[in-house]
Amino acid sequence: MVRQFGRRLVGLAAFAFGVLFTAGAILAEPRPAEDFASVHDIMKKGHGKKGLLNQIKDGVKTEKWDDLAKPAAELKKYGADLGKNQPDKGEDASWKKLSGEYKTMMLAIADGVEKKDAKATNEALTKMNKSCKACHDGHK
Ligand code: HEC
Repeated sequence: MVRQFGRRLVGLAAFAFGVLFTAGAILAEPRPAEDFASVHDIMKKGHGKKGLLNQIKDGVKTEKWDDLAKPAAELKKYGADLGKNQPDKGEDASWKKLSGEYKTMMLAIADGVEKKDAKATNEALTKMNKSCKACHDGHK
């Protein structure tokens, strides 16, 4: 008798938990759909006149390596974020390839800065600056 009651109680508790859990999941704040930077923000902050790439370019010239750690880290994140976006235009396969290359180039820039290697950083910057058109032609 006691045992049966106990079992029923457990069943009831499990049921209540299930209801609460489901209601919680339904009522929970919708998670922000994006926890990565948008293409628009990446382009503005990365490639604008006073953007991160230009900060790096100037910093390499004046050898202010310590000031470049932060912009380099931001670029690295943007490099990883770009491909998480879905562009309005263009083929998936092409976007996958070009955003993958974008990520690799950002990593190369950040790596050059980390090693305080002006030559490597400049080469990576030049490569990046030649990549704009191909991607914009297909996806902008
Ligand atoms: C791998 C793809 C890719 C590469 C490489 C790329 N872009 Fe973009 N860019 C885009 C896409 C896609 C858009 C359109 C974004 C939108 O309108 O939301 C865009 C938009 C822009 C814009 C307009 C921003 C806005 O939304 O107002 C600027 C400025 C820009 N890019 C600069 C550059 C420069 C400079 C380079 C090269 C140094 C570059 N981009 C390289 C994909 C790329």
